Amino acid sequence: MAVLTYLDNATTSWPKPEVVIRTLGTFLERASGVPLRPGNRLATETWEAIERVRERLAAFFGVPDPRRVLFTASGTDALNLAIKGLLGPGDHVVTTAIEHDAVRRPLRTLELFGVTTTRVGVGPDGLVDPVDMQRALRPNTRLVIIGHASNVTGALQPVVEIANRAHVQGTLVLVNAAQTAGVIPFTLDDLGADLLALSGHKWLLGPPGTGVLVLGPRVDPSELAPLREGATARDLPDITQLWSLPERYEAGTPNAVGIVALGAALEWLVQEGFTTLSARLRRLADRLVAGLETIPGVRLLSPSDPPRRVAVISCLVSGWRPVDLASVLEKTYRIVVGAGLHGASEACRTLGAYPHGTVRLSPGWCTTEEDIDRVILAVAELARTPSRAD
Ligand SMILES: Cc1ncc(COP(=O)(O)O)c(C=O)c1O
Repeated sequence: MAVLTYLDNATTSWPKPEVVIRTLGTFLERASGVPLRPGNRLATETWEAIERVRERLAAFFGVPDPRRVLFTASGTDALNLAIKGLLGPGDHVVTTAIEHDAVRRPLRTLELFGVTTTRVGVGPDGLVDPVDMQRALRPNTRLVIIGHASNVTGALQPVVEIANRAHVQGTLVLVNAAQTAGVIPFTLDDLGADLLALSGHKWLLGPPGTGVLVLGPRVDPSELAPLREGATARDLPDITQLWSLPERYEAGTPNAVGIVALGAALEWLVQEGFTTLSARLRRLADRLVAGLETIPGVRLLSPSDPPRRVAVISCLVSGWRPVDLASVLEKTYRIVVGAGLHGASEACRTLGAYPHGTVRLSPGWCTTEEDIDRVILAVAELARTPSRAD
């Protein structure tokens, strides 16, 4: 049977580099997994291993104080912490109409408790205009939330310009980098982000159950409430308040094995040459787009201009429901793609791809040019034989 061609890295990266899988196993075998119980060597080693990953992430994203790198259970968890921790009744938020549900849903809940939201529309290419974002600011705008790249179209938003305009009136900026961290080299400062939410299991090549929230210097921890409280890795004497970082946000036994494997993934990315990998992904996306553009009946929803997108390419194929096309691609051609609303139903609605969503193709570090050509041929073949008129 032919090997699997996996083009669903925007959902989760697969396969993971060998060292990530090995680290998961050896760490579980050798360490206690529960950081720092006084006098317990295994626990101390676990704690030190976690702190090394924190330092590595801080260096990767240009954060001078590693204590401002917080481990979370996922990108969703990081976004919930930022959104629910910062916002309260009377606050206003500016965001876009194409955000992931991990942004949209916490905001919808907060709207029931007196937070108001303005969702700025996007152009046909999925890009938002920074001027429109600025116009939506109000005196009580506490937070601007922007996805660095859309998980539906891969459209890279002009985050720097959006952040600069928000900072003029002192508004904090939360950047959701789930689809760009590990894809494009950047630091917190490069983006102008005050809070950066990351998913560990996507392009950073870590295991599921890992995420990160990075706090920039403008974020005062006393204004960011934790989502959970409890025991922390370091024994803190104060029962009522945990102001110290990162403990304030990391109560409970952490996912030590996942965090350490995420660290191994990060090291792998750096050693392999992150910028080279990044350029390769871009070339694969360009090849894919160039191929799909030539197929009659295929409508691309991703920006055609290469600098405006990451390697997350959505399309619609005439006569096919995305989920049906994906199913045939897998069964007949052994090609795995994403299909449906991608956890971003509002984005799909905004882009005119509701309720069925899109077919999403996202190559990864393992994808070859031959894989891309095979996918283009398969889509071309299926586009000639629609399953049914939609
Ligand atoms: C843009 C975006 N934000 C947030 C998330 C949530 O990340 P996680 O799967 O780590 O919770 C995803 C995952 O699909 C995403 O694509």
